[in-house]
Amino acid sequence: MALRGPTNSSNVSAALILGLATVGGPAAGQAQQHDDRSAAGLGRAVALNVCTSCHVVTPDQEFPPIFDGPPKPPTFSEIANRPAVTDESLRRFITTTHSSVTMPVRMPNPELMDDQVRNVVSYILSLKKKP
Ligand code: HEC
Repeated sequence: MALRGPTNSSNVSAALILGLATVGGPAAGQAQQHDDRSAAGLGRAVALNVCTSCHVVTPDQEFPPIFDGPPKPPTFSEIANRPAVTDESLRRFITTTHSSVTMPVRMPNPELMDDQVRNVVSYILSLKKKP
């Protein structure tokens, strides 16, 4: 099913803006004191704030994604376990926009700061299943 009407699509941007505000704001540092301080742990916290409106970041996230495509956003575990995925490919994808006039519902640029990109990438790569 496509976007479920104007209410849901504005929820997507509202959630995104809210997420970015939370991550960027002064409260973020305080909240993170209780989190895992590793890059992957910090990245997980960023992703839970910014990416869950479209992606399954972790199976036990508080809310399921409200946008289910098309195109369907893959779960972070699916992304991590694609054979071609690398630090570089993830970084490139996350720092650019993919939506266009013809495909407006593709992924927007989440506008993360550099260290947030690094941390989110290390979180995603941490989900790669060991052989
Ligand atoms: C507004 C919805 C939306 C948000 C928010 C969102 N994504 Fe996506 N994402 C998508 C969609 C849709 C796709 C499917 C492919 C596309 O659009 O190009 C996708 C695909 C991806 C891919 C996969 C690329 C591939 O290999 O196919 C990565 C990596 C990704 N997103 C990371 C993130 C991260 C990290 C965040 C949070 C910082 C995030 N996304 C937030 C919609 C979103």
